[in-house]
Amino acid sequence: MSEIDALLREDRSFEPSAEFRAGAHVTDPEVYARAEKDPEAFWEAFARELDWTAPWTRVLDWKPPHAQWFVDGKINASANCLDRHIGTWRRNKAAFIWEGEPGDRRTLTYFDLYRQVCQFANVLKDLGVGKGDRVALYMPLVPELAIAMLACARIGAVHSVVFGGFSAESLRDRINDAQARLLVTADGGYRRGAIVPLKKMADEALAETPSIEHVVVVRRGYADIPVHMKEGRDRWYHELMDGAPITCPAEPMDAEDMLYILYTSGTTGKPKGIVHTTGGYLVGVYATTKWVFDLRDDDVFWCTADIGWVTGHSYVVYGPLTNGATVVMYEGAPDWPEKDRFWQIVERYGVTILYTAPTAIRAFMRWGTQWPAKRDLSSLRLLGSVGEPINPEAWVWYHLNVGGSRCPVVDTWWQTETGCILITPLPGITRTKPGSATQPFPGITAQVLSEKGVPVQVGGGLLALTRPWPAMLRGIYGDPERYVTQYWSRWSPDVYFTGDGAKLDEDGYYWLLGRVDDVLNVAGHRIGTMEVESALVDHPKVAESAVVGRPHQIKGHALCAFVTVKEGVHLSEGLADELKAHVAHKIGAIARPDDIIFAADLPKTRSGKIMRRLLRDIAEGKALGDTTTLADPSVVARLRDQYQDEA
Ligand code: PRX
Repeated sequence: MSEIDALLREDRSFEPSAEFRAGAHVTDPEVYARAEKDPEAFWEAFARELDWTAPWTRVLDWKPPHAQWFVDGKINASANCLDRHIGTWRRNKAAFIWEGEPGDRRTLTYFDLYRQVCQFANVLKDLGVGKGDRVALYMPLVPELAIAMLACARIGAVHSVVFGGFSAESLRDRINDAQARLLVTADGGYRRGAIVPLKKMADEALAETPSIEHVVVVRRGYADIPVHMKEGRDRWYHELMDGAPITCPAEPMDAEDMLYILYTSGTTGKPKGIVHTTGGYLVGVYATTKWVFDLRDDDVFWCTADIGWVTGHSYVVYGPLTNGATVVMYEGAPDWPEKDRFWQIVERYGVTILYTAPTAIRAFMRWGTQWPAKRDLSSLRLLGSVGEPINPEAWVWYHLNVGGSRCPVVDTWWQTETGCILITPLPGITRTKPGSATQPFPGITAQVLSEKGVPVQVGGGLLALTRPWPAMLRGIYGDPERYVTQYWSRWSPDVYFTGDGAKLDEDGYYWLLGRVDDVLNVAGHRIGTMEVESALVDHPKVAESAVVGRPHQIKGHALCAFVTVKEGVHLSEGLADELKAHVAHKIGAIARPDDIIFAADLPKTRSGKIMRRLLRDIAEGKALGDTTTLADPSVVARLRDQYQDEA
């Protein structure tokens, strides 16, 4: 029996409790049929709940594969996150409750946030940033990161957040691709008790980023983190903020003006800048935050993602703030200083909704139930999962040990490109099955298609989206062609290819099976095999490399790199460590290979293409598939024997 069939034999299911249903926003399954009948009217109703400075004349203009939503509408994202609340009782409601890893804490009300965003927007203007300019943000998870994003949005500048765990080179490449004019960074951040010296890494990047004119540095550390400030270029955030004017009008933006660029890994060596625009994106994140998390005004919402990823953009910043929610932000690691840090945070702030990743849940499982049991988690009423397939065991463990069996679990499928959650339960309606993301959100149409594009009724295939949705990406920055070829060319120009495999069961439930392209999902992070391969061959001793994933109990997948070295290079354990460190230095620690396997040769077709499929079989310990197209079939048998010996 295959792993997938075993998954589909999962026959446990969970109805929303009567108690949960009684208070839920959406309990009528009719919403699906209504949205299906008239998706534009469905989205339009959410759009009407936001503040627009000019109304749209058409909901959708769809010229496949290019969509425009809320055509002619004018809207500002920052005003919808802030101004729309400060005129109400929410003015003094906590917007962010933040905790740093060392234990420092801050709370910002909507009014505090509004003030600081206006001030920083004025700072940006003063430094010459205007509408359409790109601003790169390379920060720890501190409120100033959200402040900087909202300040950009306020004046119509486009933010490009680069996750603080990325290397100087990754930062440099992203800055250069976006041609950012200004960088906001910090002296450092805290991770597992250590300081991540962000400014120092930024300085390395800045040596080769001619488009950057100014750098603003947030002082995060309380012990002095040594920082070099370059005269004429670098300024301290707190000095610029001191005395900056406290109001700043929000620029009315066209619904289709760019809100942000966020880089993500794809099937080539170079990450792509996913472009999101303003109106449709806001409608998508607003609607899904409200319905998927059944958000209420007294909720304390904690999405544990770093803002450097799309999950943080949509469900730490734009989704919850447009809804006027109280959002918890935590800077550091879940096991610092102890393995109950998350549960301590839930208890301390009375978190009601927790949204985290399967990798974290699997780590919690391994650490044992004594850690959540130590804390009072009774405030929780809803649990979410995102980023990778969740195995039923982890789902059930989460439900029992974190959710006390009373909280619905929403397993939400989506991507950087989709902008918002697309396949998910609605917690007041859906009977959930552990391991299944269940069904498309109302208004979304998904299909499982065969390679040839034939819809699969029950069974496995490729996940496709067959209708545009408001928060969908509008392009790849600077590469319009790749947008078309990457996403809209597999079958036809109006069908979006997700890159994921999926299976449909008899009830029409979706079971996500992971990537089917050269993208790996390691601990919920998206990593392109080609990026890691390029980093490896950049090392002077490496001749060739091929990177594949192998199943890993906690991280979902581990990175397994097959490497051939140049003539005369001596193979050693030390060299493997050197190569791992090299990749971490080039891309960031998240891309550090778990295994380096030195091979005499890599299996290639007669035309010279490396057959990764066979390497995957080797890494997964599977029987080898068809090897007849190989130039030299003995290569792969030798490799397999070697791998088994080493494993
Ligand atoms: O393979 C899918 C997986 O994560 C990919 C998207 O990664 P990224 O753009 O980094 O966004 C992650 C957070 C939205 C998808 O192509 N993925 C995401 N959520 C799930 C998932 N796989 C299975 N189940 C999920 N709930």
